[in-house]
Amino acid sequence: MTWHATVLTLFPPMFPGPLGHSLAGRALAEGRWALEARDLRVHGIGPHRSVDDTPFGGGAGMVLRPDVVDAALAGCADARPALYLSPRGARLTQARVTELAAGPGVVLLCGRYEGVDARVVEARGLEEVSLGDFVLSGGEPAAIALLDACVRLLPGVLGAAESAEEESFSAGLLEYPHYTRPAVWQGRAVPAVLVSGHHGEIATWRRAEAERATRERRPDLWAAYRSIDMQGRHAGGGGCQPPARPLEQPAKGPRI
Ligand SMILES: C[S@@+](CC[C@H](N)C(=O)[O-])C[C@H]1O[C@@H](n2cnc3c(N)ncnc32)[C@H](O)[C@@H]1O
Repeated sequence: MTWHATVLTLFPPMFPGPLGHSLAGRALAEGRWALEARDLRVHGIGPHRSVDDTPFGGGAGMVLRPDVVDAALAGCADARPALYLSPRGARLTQARVTELAAGPGVVLLCGRYEGVDARVVEARGLEEVSLGDFVLSGGEPAAIALLDACVRLLPGVLGAAESAEEESFSAGLLEYPHYTRPAVWQGRAVPAVLVSGHHGEIATWRRAEAERATRERRPDLWAAYRSIDMQGRHAGGGGCQPPARPLEQPAKGPRI
């Protein structure tokens, strides 16, 4: 069955937008997933199809009405999870993206203005998902990012050369750094191990670099990784143990 995304938005022309290009666009054209952007204004109230109103309690801005949003959600009530893109939601993770990609698809509600009346979020049991600790002017860019992350995990979307298995977050770590030709650029050489031809040593180096980057850049991920590692659940069981041999330090300055 085709993975099906429905986006509820005040700005349907924003879709497919970037999702019509490259990997996601090709997969869309091949029918590996389907996308439908539905206009919330269709359910607007009165001759002006009003979708919002002022917030109770006062304050700046407008709030999307619960009856309007509810009518839009009623039109796509099925087995798919319904998510509201919101800075108040749980931060989106690769683990959640992987779950969503394995399901039948998603229904995404994009807020605008001050957001959506809280009662319809509760009544419909919407999962609130945030892209990060910053405020966008609307949920559409967040919906596009979420869909892009899901679609690339659908069967047949990534080619064999673009496996998601070693990517950042897939094993609880950030990915190791990448290098390509030329082997020396502006006086900086690629780490010698990568041109050694020793696959085992390359794998060890990459693992150590992934761990180092995670430890230095993302203490939160590192702590979670270490706690899982202590239980011996990572492949190799010794991911955060000191490496068996001294590891080459990454390029910080000019390397020749
Ligand atoms: C201007 S924002 C509303 C911000 C809201 N008043 C607040 O302070 O939490 C309008 C809409 O953009 C979307 N949005 C903004 N930031 C987001 C984020 N970090 N992740 C996901 N959606 C976001 C949501 O759909 C939200 O309803």
